[in-house]
Amino acid sequence: MGHEQLPTEEPAVVTCGLPYANGDLHVGHLRSYVAGDLFARALRRIGQQTAFVCGSDMHGTPVAVNAAEQGVDPEEFALEWHDQYRERFPQFNIAFDNYGHTHDETNTELTRDFVASWIDNDHVFEKGIKVAYDPEADQWLPDRYVEGTCPYCGEKARGDECDEGCQRHLEPGEVEDPVSVRTGNPAEYRRREHKFLRLSDFQEYLQGFIHRLEGTERARQQPREWIEGELEDLCITRDMDWGINYPGENGEAEELVLYVWVDAPIEYVASTKQYSERVGADTYDWTEVWQFDGERRHGTEWPESWADDGGEIIHLIGPDIIQHHTVFWPAMLRAAGYNEPRAVLATGFVGIDGKSLSTSRNRAIWAKEYLDEGFHPDLFRYYTTTGSGLERDVDFSWDRFAERVNSELVGTLGNFCYRALLFAARNYDGTPDADVSEEIRGHIEDAVETFETAVREYDIRTIGQVAVDLAGLGNEYIQRNEPWNLVDDDPERAAQVIRDCVQLTRACAVLMQPVMPEKAQRLWEHVGESGDVSELPVEAALDAPAAAFGEPDELFEQVAEGTIEALNAELRDRVAAASEGENAEAADETDGTPALDPVETDRIGFEQFQEFDMRVAEILTAEPIEGADDLVRLEVDIGVERRQVVAGIRQLHDVESLPGTRVVLLANMETAELFGVESNGMVLAAGEEADLLTTHGDAPLGSRIR
Ligand code: 2FM
Ligand code: ZN
Repeated sequence: MGHEQLPTEEPAVVTCGLPYANGDLHVGHLRSYVAGDLFARALRRIGQQTAFVCGSDMHGTPVAVNAAEQGVDPEEFALEWHDQYRERFPQFNIAFDNYGHTHDETNTELTRDFVASWIDNDHVFEKGIKVAYDPEADQWLPDRYVEGTCPYCGEKARGDECDEGCQRHLEPGEVEDPVSVRTGNPAEYRRREHKFLRLSDFQEYLQGFIHRLEGTERARQQPREWIEGELEDLCITRDMDWGINYPGENGEAEELVLYVWVDAPIEYVASTKQYSERVGADTYDWTEVWQFDGERRHGTEWPESWADDGGEIIHLIGPDIIQHHTVFWPAMLRAAGYNEPRAVLATGFVGIDGKSLSTSRNRAIWAKEYLDEGFHPDLFRYYTTTGSGLERDVDFSWDRFAERVNSELVGTLGNFCYRALLFAARNYDGTPDADVSEEIRGHIEDAVETFETAVREYDIRTIGQVAVDLAGLGNEYIQRNEPWNLVDDDPERAAQVIRDCVQLTRACAVLMQPVMPEKAQRLWEHVGESGDVSELPVEAALDAPAAAFGEPDELFEQVAEGTIEALNAELRDRVAAASEGENAEAADETDGTPALDPVETDRIGFEQFQEFDMRVAEILTAEPIEGADDLVRLEVDIGVERRQVVAGIRQLHDVESLPGTRVVLLANMETAELFGVESNGMVLAAGEEADLLTTHGDAPLGSRIR
């Protein structure tokens, strides 16, 4: 059953994954929060009542381990970070309607309430399990206190997550060869009673839920495998002091706290509740979103039509927590009689210089660092939301940032609006007396429709891009009509052209508001408007502009080449330092022999193999890509056609000798854009040295590999 089209009559809530209150925010975090903020703003522009909420994730071992390392009490430690995040988000124009934290009273109470309902509804049971224990430290080792090997993929894993491998959630006792993070000694497994949420009660429900779920492709597809297979029950308690106590009866299990992944998502509800209480239920009623008919229905009939009851819950998250949001969380909600998410939007990862971002190694671009450079937050917002589709993995690059700001924001959007408004102010003291032409009205209507459709399709990139595209069209229009040559000879026509350009500028201000809210407001004032552009529906793009306005100033400034060179140099040093550390570690572990991955244990069928369309190909041309140290642009012949492919082999091969090399191309790899160059396929290579795969005989170009 599908959901009713957005906007609906019900209120919506947009949430972002809660940041652990344990360290500085970086561009990887900001990518999600900016996208969430953009989407919440855009949803309001199409007429959906929307709250945008979040909070700090205060509990669990991610906080406790870091606090312990610094010898600080976890509560004090987490509160300090929480205060810092509250200041930091507005500096990037990320405007949460409520930003709470998981340790506050609202969340503590609500969490206990949720768990009490699970117990009442008979979804909780106790079971003896093996839990890692450090005899020397005389301590249980929950989650990040223990490291070992992932039983599913063989990669190094933490107690509750395979963060470097298959990304699966791991239950206590699953990690193999456990080692204590406290002492570095091998950990023992000891038996211990813990509480479980019986996820298997929700198997059938989840199978229906996943079909209704909207959002990004990966978030909708990845959980299917887990939901179709046997669902493992979720251990909801931990042996720790820091957290929310398990709300057992008569002091039962009182020494246990709830697993952090219990109280963390409940903060989505608690934060909405706090917002609702602040503005009053007449303005925004949290129960209409999260509950059915404003009441919880423990053990009663579920609504026939899910889409017709409860509000629109939209979660924006990082790619590593899809399972938590599409399996555990809907089951947790359902077990307590709450509404289900309508959509889950998962971003891709953000990398630095082709490698994953690593906070512990300082291979990161920090939020503070960006601001300290004096860059406007809206530039980052535009760059990070429109460089690629939301779920793509991307590399942060200062070069690309500067290139896009200079060409798209300064050269296209800023340039068009400035030219149009300056000409209008100087020649007409504002908007010329003429009607907007059919041609331009049509273009603005199209842009408004593109915007609305993009919101309905959760297409963050298009929402962020639409104003710049419209300005590009405006630049072309003004250039083609040359109003400066018409003012004397054909004043009526000149007035018409400028009238159109003022309308386009007004439309840009309205359409760019979700992605660049502060710049949009400034442009709004440039076109002689007062009031808040964020309060207008997107159709306001077509309303008549103000009659009078003065000369504008420039909306954007060029990013200077020198600034970027300095930032690049700093980043290079930082990446090199991080890599040195990694190489040294790898050598320690392997005596210099590269470690080999264990063979995948999951077998695939021939049909699945056939989905890989691999072809014999020949490299025709090869050239380095400017600004990208590792990348080359290749033109390859695959018999049936020629393709442009980007390959990360520049440091490992002599680029000039590549033409003429026979290679194997994965031809149905999804296309990607790297440093502005489209890559249409993937050249296959083996090992750290990117040894290129080829054929031994004369299989003709384009032959399929089988
Ligand atoms: O993975 C994380 O960073 C968690 N702090 C996200 C929590 S999101 C939620 F569900 F609360
Ligand atoms: Zn794994």
